[in-house]
Amino acid sequence: MKSIQYAIIGGTGVYDSGVASDKVSVQTEFGEIEVDIAEVQGNSIVFLARHGKQHGIPPHRINYRANIKALQKLGVKQIFATAAVGSLNPDFPTGSLVLLADFLDMTKQRPLTFFEGGLDGAKHVNMDDPYCQNLRQQLTDTAIQHKVNFTGDAVYICTEGPRFETEAEIKMMRQWGADVVGMTSVPEVVLAKELGMCYASVGFVVNMATGMESGPIQLVEIEEMLSRNKKIINRLFLGIFSKKPDQQNCACADSIVYL
Ligand code: HPA
Repeated sequence: MKSIQYAIIGGTGVYDSGVASDKVSVQTEFGEIEVDIAEVQGNSIVFLARHGKQHGIPPHRINYRANIKALQKLGVKQIFATAAVGSLNPDFPTGSLVLLADFLDMTKQRPLTFFEGGLDGAKHVNMDDPYCQNLRQQLTDTAIQHKVNFTGDAVYICTEGPRFETEAEIKMMRQWGADVVGMTSVPEVVLAKELGMCYASVGFVVNMATGMESGPIQLVEIEEMLSRNKKIINRLFLGIFSKKPDQQNCACADSIVYL
């Protein structure tokens, strides 16, 4: 099969790439993953629905290692993800589009690495640029060209879920510097870096986090928001995929440290 440069990992509400595609199954040592493969202006791209096409896989049951391994097996070098998030930052109201820039990890019980020692030795991965600066720049530049408005760069805090956070937890997370909260970006972003792939993620704010507004969380209708944002996201991602693949001028492919 032809090697593929780009992948989209679609989060909540994003279940296809928006262009005609073929289904392909990829076998990995962590399990079998189904993806869609499409052509955009001569570039092959792969689309993976993080929660499954029917949204049947909750955040703590996603097979993150199989997903990322499958993308690597297909030859993917650059991953563009989407994530529905809650906002802890009043400057990022419901409906905002944010670019994830860093993360805090509060997950508890997920397999979080490919590095299990043994013959491989004790490997570590650098996290000085978790969301690839090169891809973020491409997203920012393409957003300007296509008149897409990013409200800002956001620090993402990843919780285990599937429950939402308590008000006290959100207060603490705000003090830690979190702007948005979700349940999926970790370990996805880490696993991509462990395999030398560039990874960036666009967050859709679908609610203000617990206690940020009076009363229970008000979730925007994902479907309604999707119809608003899907065109935007398609414009953005397809704008990137229509260009000649950018040479990687980041350190993502060289982030492994041996102690
Ligand atoms: N908390 C955690 N994950 C989320 C939220 C939230 O408020 N909104 C969307 N994903």
